[in-house]
Amino acid sequence: MQTAESSGGSDLVIRDLHYSYDGNLPIFTGLDLQVQAGEFLAIIGPSGCGKSTLLNLLSGFASPERGRVQLRDRVIRPEDPGLGYVFQRPNLFPWLTAIENVEFGLRMSGMPAAQRRQRALHYFQLVGLAGFENYLTTRLSGGMQQRVSLARALALEPALLLMDEPFSALDAITRETMNDELLRIWDTLGQTVIFITHEIEEAIYLADRIVVLARPPAGIYRSHGNELPRPRSSQTTKTSPLFWEYKKRLIGDIAAVMRQQPVDDAELVEMGLSVATDHA
Ligand SMILES: Nc1ncnc2c1ncn2[C@@H]1O[C@H](COP(=O)(O)OP(=O)(O)OP(=O)(O)O)[C@@H](O)[C@H]1O
Ligand SMILES: [Mg+2]
Repeated sequence: MQTAESSGGSDLVIRDLHYSYDGNLPIFTGLDLQVQAGEFLAIIGPSGCGKSTLLNLLSGFASPERGRVQLRDRVIRPEDPGLGYVFQRPNLFPWLTAIENVEFGLRMSGMPAAQRRQRALHYFQLVGLAGFENYLTTRLSGGMQQRVSLARALALEPALLLMDEPFSALDAITRETMNDELLRIWDTLGQTVIFITHEIEEAIYLADRIVVLARPPAGIYRSHGNELPRPRSSQTTKTSPLFWEYKKRLIGDIAAVMRQQPVDDAELVEMGLSVATDHA
């Protein structure tokens, strides 16, 4: 499969990225990654390997020690209008109502009140929260808060959507619905999406390409192109032999990455790998 690395024309460029927290163990020592405009990239890797750190660097909340992160030849800043992010934790303003949270970025960008309310309501409904517009977010469940956070990012209709395990707090059914909604929105808007997940199946279901991160400071372990046809649906995609073939390959990669350090059983279970299948 042709990937961003081979095709040129990439949108997001990460070159020679170096990063460590306050002189501690380096997390990245020369990471390179290119993401094409409109590509849906999933990043997967064990807990603590640096996924959230990478997203912080991509969003401009953290700055590389060395190397560069650029979106269309410009250094990314968190306030860029073309950027939307959904963090691992919802990170909402507790003094605003749910719908006001969704409107917040639109207000900052100067969108007139009526237009931003209409836009916010559209995405609010899309994530299944109709009826909860005027709730303070502290009165919503964790999963609902995460959906507000998703609506807030989507409402910006960003060119680059950065998502850090956005659905991990949701129950399995809601998560599946959200995956389908996300694919539908992506199909309509054509953003570049970088989606971090612990779930191998979720990565395969959603992405055009799946990058497996190694333990720090190794960076990218392997990159897999995903040729499962689109549009995808649970019934056809998740039952296809190719889906299971990808799953097998990714389980192998994750197991190899985890063998770099003692394997934590709880971590394996969290990633959808039963301890019994602990690949010799
Ligand atoms: N603020 C911080 N200060 C110092 N070290 C940090 C900080 N945040 C993360 N780290 C360390 O950096 C490494 C990568 O952390 P990061 O949160 O990026 O991992 P992750 O892959 O997102 O993990 P998880 O899957 O559990 O969310 C870990 O070893 C962690 O201890
Ligand atoms: Mg994380």
